[in-house]
Amino acid sequence: MSTLIIYGTKYNFTEKCAITLENKLEGKVDMINLENESINDLSNYEKIIIGGPIYAGQLRKNVRQFCMNNMNILLSKKIGLFVSCSMTGDDARKQIKNAFPEKLYNKALVKNYFGGKVNLEKASFFDRLIIKLVSKSDNITSNRNDEICMDNIDRFADVINNC
Ligand SMILES: Cc1cc2nc3c(=O)[nH]c(=O)nc-3n(C[C@H](O)[C@H](O)[C@H](O)COP(=O)(O)O)c2cc1C
Repeated sequence: MSTLIIYGTKYNFTEKCAITLENKLEGKVDMINLENESINDLSNYEKIIIGGPIYAGQLRKNVRQFCMNNMNILLSKKIGLFVSCSMTGDDARKQIKNAFPEKLYNKALVKNYFGGKVNLEKASFFDRLIIKLVSKSDNITSNRNDEICMDNIDRFADVINNC
């Protein structure tokens, strides 16, 4: 039985987090990027890790959709959940709780944020506009964490490796 890491990403930072985690996990690990792949059969996986970025307080839509479409089988697995986001600490934890369906959140053995990067060069005009507006009010960018949170990934990998 192996592990699946399945994730969405808009500007690839979440993919970087997923690959960093993959390198810390023991045994066979498959990766699915929901931006260009899909999967029909989850039955061979013992552990499933689901991750995605937070935009305007919400989990990327394809990741949430994957959770909803596969809820029954996911609830029978060992689950880990992660997000990439600019916020840290309690703000980030609140976002994780709000991002995933409640049943899945409660079932997960581990959940955490892995850091975030606002890639202004790659960002669309619309996304840059939102960042500009938000950073004038309460702020994604002043609270931001532009690095991968290695400590959080290490702790997450420990839980998954030992469950
Ligand atoms: C338009 C926009 C809105 C965002 N909204 C949030 C937010 O509500 N909360 C947060 O913590 N981070 C927010 N972020 C930061 C992203 O979650 C972060 O950049 C993430 O790492 C992006 O991942 P990706 O490159 O895989 O798409 C936002 C970024 C952009 C560009």
